[in-house]
Amino acid sequence: MTANDKIRIIFVCLGNICRSPLGEAIFRRMVEERNLSDRFIIDSAGTANYHVGQLPDPGSRRIALKHGISLEDQHGRQFTADDLAKWDYIIAMDASNQANIHKLGKAGGNVHLLREFDPQGSGDVPDPWAQGDEAFQETYNIIHRSCENLLNSIISEHHLQ
Ligand code: 4NP
Repeated sequence: MTANDKIRIIFVCLGNICRSPLGEAIFRRMVEERNLSDRFIIDSAGTANYHVGQLPDPGSRRIALKHGISLEDQHGRQFTADDLAKWDYIIAMDASNQANIHKLGKAGGNVHLLREFDPQGSGDVPDPWAQGDEAFQETYNIIHRSCENLLNSIISEHHLQ
């Protein structure tokens, strides 16, 4: 990667309606706040095709809006084998998403679990699907603090600031 290449990062969950849309939007806002938007391409996808074309889950949209973030322009899409070579960072929400990614073939970039970057925990980002607002808030909190650390780690790895 040369100095001016964009850093390509994708957040991946199962359905691309609850967790990874939050990852995409929260990370994008943090990148904007650091004036680094021109250095990144940010996306999200699901390993399953259940919700292709759909808006994010109302629970995720509600919790995002509560924190001043809109998910209204996102639509579900499936992560496919074609994605493997396209991303510098593939960030899986849980171990099963990560296993599904590896089943598709060899990734070109780094595949990580998001919570490898969680200063307060590790393992899976819990799936809030079909649960109440409290579950979505907990998921939001985990994704937010992990994304902060992930971005700091990428900034220092690529000497961005
Ligand atoms: P997500 O949550 O992977 O965070 O988007 C889910 C959404 C839908 C389903 C499972 C998880 N589903 O089985 O339809």
